[in-house]
Amino acid sequence: MQLNILIIDPLEKITEVVRQNFDKNFGASIQAIHTLEEGLAFLDKKPTLDLYIIRNYNGLDQNTGRMAEFAKPLLAKLDSIENKTPVIVLGDVELAIKANIYVCYEMKIQELNKIFYRALNLKREDFLHMKLPKYVPFPISNFYLMDRSPCDVYIKLTKTTGDEFIKRLYVGDSFTKKDLKKYESLGLADFYITREEREFFINDLLEQTLKNLKAKGDDETHFDKNADSFTIGTDMIKLLGVTPACVELVEETVDNIKTHILKTGKLSDLFKNVFNDKHSFSYRRSYLICIVSYMLLPRMEWGGVDQRSSLFEKISLVSYFHDIYLETDEMLKINSLEDLRKANLSPRERDIVLNHANNAAMIIHNYPHLPQGVDAMIRQHHGSANGLGFPEVYSSSISPMAIFFIVVEEFATLILTAKVMDTSLIIKDLKTKFTLPSYRKYVSEIEAVFLSK
Ligand SMILES: [Fe+2]
Ligand SMILES: [Fe+2]
Repeated sequence: MQLNILIIDPLEKITEVVRQNFDKNFGASIQAIHTLEEGLAFLDKKPTLDLYIIRNYNGLDQNTGRMAEFAKPLLAKLDSIENKTPVIVLGDVELAIKANIYVCYEMKIQELNKIFYRALNLKREDFLHMKLPKYVPFPISNFYLMDRSPCDVYIKLTKTTGDEFIKRLYVGDSFTKKDLKKYESLGLADFYITREEREFFINDLLEQTLKNLKAKGDDETHFDKNADSFTIGTDMIKLLGVTPACVELVEETVDNIKTHILKTGKLSDLFKNVFNDKHSFSYRRSYLICIVSYMLLPRMEWGGVDQRSSLFEKISLVSYFHDIYLETDEMLKINSLEDLRKANLSPRERDIVLNHANNAAMIIHNYPHLPQGVDAMIRQHHGSANGLGFPEVYSSSISPMAIFFIVVEEFATLILTAKVMDTSLIIKDLKTKFTLPSYRKYVSEIEAVFLSK
């Protein structure tokens, strides 16, 4: 079980100390928000988390110019959404006593941890027993764009006497993707790093990956690298949240997709890559969504060339992030309640699928200068307004851009999963699926652009 914690605190330094504490001692995942407005907006969406930590900070309110308490409006907001999640307030605050609100008067980590146990009704033993592992796994695919090992790397041997970790790469060892593929062909999925070197390793991984991705190379190699970086970037975001290094990697990858489409231009050439199944289904579909959107955008009523390029930008970001939490191709292909019923998922996987749109919209919340509308598109990309589950029937009461995305994604999925590639059959399927005029108009545009090709 991994605990998910949100901390709302204006000071990044304090957040960082708290984050490291919860990561190191409890293996928890932390999201951070630094402004009151963002905090309020975030809580409005009723996130599903295990704990909120809110710091009471007396500071100047930018809007009124008066001194204001940071915690009070946030607590009032939690009240208004009938919050049941435990809350820890850091710092002195006057409060009406409530069952799920705890105050940590002293800014000391030990004190905070004591209250943390109380708030979540946990004991120290719960974590001792969990014993944070000495080695942490990373999928071998995360190493694809690296060529040098920044620390010792281990493989795990499962024995009846317990797991054994054997050093496979020494610090400074160089390797190629071919070497890594060899390990994978032997059935090995993960490499291991010691817990102490985890952070150092991740930083180096991101650095090497980005450098490699930016290096010049022929088009094909570059396309392959971009497909690898797509998987690596989404893995890192799930692991770390939106950090500056992750953002840099996302931007480079998304930019490469856009440049590739602009440069290639010809649909038949673009499609060649889409059907090359050495790349993941997830990458190919996101890339195809970008291609289809790029072809459709000039036909949309949404304004001129400038606006078109900003829309293309938004859709590229949405196509990168929207399914970030889905782990398997089977999960990625579920687009309706009916698909969900047919799929053979464990309760955990079902839960992931039902919440993936809302959770992806949550994680992108910290993305710097996020273009307007991107989070709504991500949240609503299966047609439900709050990003939870799948609607019984599609409705027009969601963002028009989300409707555009839903139709385009369905088209892309049908292209990638069709037994025989027959555009007219696929368009017929789209017409059966989308009957509302607000959805149908995009089907008509797809028909106009793709049927003759
Ligand atoms: Fe999707
Ligand atoms: Fe999805």
